[in-house]
Amino acid sequence: MSDGNGSKRELRSQAWFSGLNMFTFSHRSWNGRGYPPDVFDGRPVIGICNSWSELTTCNAHLRIVAEHVKRGVWEAGGLPLEFPTMSLGESMMKPTTMLWRNLMSMDVEESLRANPLDGVVLLCGCDKTTPAQLMGAASVDLPTISDMRRRGELSDEEYLEVEAGYSRSDGHCNTMGTASTMTSMAEALGTTLTGAAAIPAADSRRRALAHITGRRIVQMVHEDLRLSQILTPEAFHNAIATLNALGGSTNAVIHLPAIAGRLGIDLPLERFDELSRQVPFLADLKPSGQYLMEAFHAAGGVPAVMAEIKDVLELAAMTATGVSMGENLAGVEGDGKVIRRRSNPLSPDGGIVILRGTLAPGTAVIKRSAASEELLRHRGRAYVFETRAELLAHIDDDDLPVDPSTVLVLKNGGPKGGPGMPEWGQLPIPARLLRQGVTDMLRISDARMSGTSYGTVVLHTTPEAAAGGPLAVVQTGDEIEIDIDERRLDLLVPAEELQRRLAAWTPPPPHYTRGYGRLFIDSVLGADAGCDFDFLRADGIEHADYGPLYARMGHS
Ligand code: FES
Repeated sequence: MSDGNGSKRELRSQAWFSGLNMFTFSHRSWNGRGYPPDVFDGRPVIGICNSWSELTTCNAHLRIVAEHVKRGVWEAGGLPLEFPTMSLGESMMKPTTMLWRNLMSMDVEESLRANPLDGVVLLCGCDKTTPAQLMGAASVDLPTISDMRRRGELSDEEYLEVEAGYSRSDGHCNTMGTASTMTSMAEALGTTLTGAAAIPAADSRRRALAHITGRRIVQMVHEDLRLSQILTPEAFHNAIATLNALGGSTNAVIHLPAIAGRLGIDLPLERFDELSRQVPFLADLKPSGQYLMEAFHAAGGVPAVMAEIKDVLELAAMTATGVSMGENLAGVEGDGKVIRRRSNPLSPDGGIVILRGTLAPGTAVIKRSAASEELLRHRGRAYVFETRAELLAHIDDDDLPVDPSTVLVLKNGGPKGGPGMPEWGQLPIPARLLRQGVTDMLRISDARMSGTSYGTVVLHTTPEAAAGGPLAVVQTGDEIEIDIDERRLDLLVPAEELQRRLAAWTPPPPHYTRGYGRLFIDSVLGADAGCDFDFLRADGIEHADYGPLYARMGHS
């Protein structure tokens, strides 16, 4: 049977719609309301997977964008069918959206697997909606293209002025925070059209790009260009290199291994460190630099950054455009100002540093570009907060026994401990020291940090305290030493004493005993494995072969 484009390959959707029997009749008639019968003639059925929600304000315009994608799909001879997924509003959901990233990815995965789809356009654009959609789609492995929503039209002041009418603009996260980082990662991975990540959301070219994305996904179905052909080890290499050149959020150090894990690709965190030593920091964007995302777009966006570091990229990596990353980057050049030349970087290395040591036998992460020079090598005595609540209650006590050399430690901010690994990692400087003019201290936790935060802040310490890592048994007064050049983070207590404390440690009571929270606590992996659920990682690609499809044909 033709796939509607002259090809002999049978499309997946035809199992639902093709042929004359009671089941295909039922599917066509049930889905065909409002469509002429010939839309089921074997043309590709394209899902538009939409994280639209009025509770996720930065995704609240995506239904309009979906209409532009549909135009392109229709024009290219496909049948577009939009469907909603769970949405994760970064600023709204408590305790943290990270608690539900995996749940959203399962929603995406199962929606794609269960429905008669041949390809999918992912519509998203927030800290967790982007990785969640990529993780879910990676587990199904259909032809897939991301259409990310870049922010960047309003300053904070303007935004406050129009808060009652925020829907007049399409977003507000206009720095290289986590949302911008993750949309940039989607482009560097090759899952978007070239330049897609950087067009401001309110720019009409964004809608034109959505239209072209709709056209392109139909072609991808005809080419059978699946996500597993794009999300290869080479693609992750390119994303990590680009992350360093962008000075992107440390949250990518969690999300990229999680996406890779869905494809059975091992991504040891040392890859981030190795590439950070090879790739200079080039993008002069807030929070580390001067400019906002709109200027980044005008300067050439992600392709211009990647063009500047071509020598370390895997240029043969296939992309959603249908050609290699190297071909996408041919002739691309940045402005030399917002996106610095390789010969004139903001910093000679990329900034993501992976630490190990007796305090972090798994790993820990620090963004060197956000740290203070005088703390890159430091030894100090710990002051320990067992919980975030204890920290909030006492951090500003006038008699808090700390000085500028103290190492502030927060326990129980990890995936199980938070729960959900909230962005608590940038521990506040105690008020008493702030009054003395102290602006940075060494701070250590098993939590994450917002992409817009900075300071000498060690994050993602694994194993986390609630899982019984050495962090769990640090005591106030212990000495801690960090040496960023040596990639070391050590708790300077004798090994026998550390073993004695660990043997006596008992886990805190779990946050949940039932429901999704219980599933999360029981199944979540450490930050060094991307905080995915253990049962969602793949040993290899599980193609969307959809199980006993004909069993479902018994539906009346
Ligand atoms: Fe969604 Fe920042 S809160 S993009």
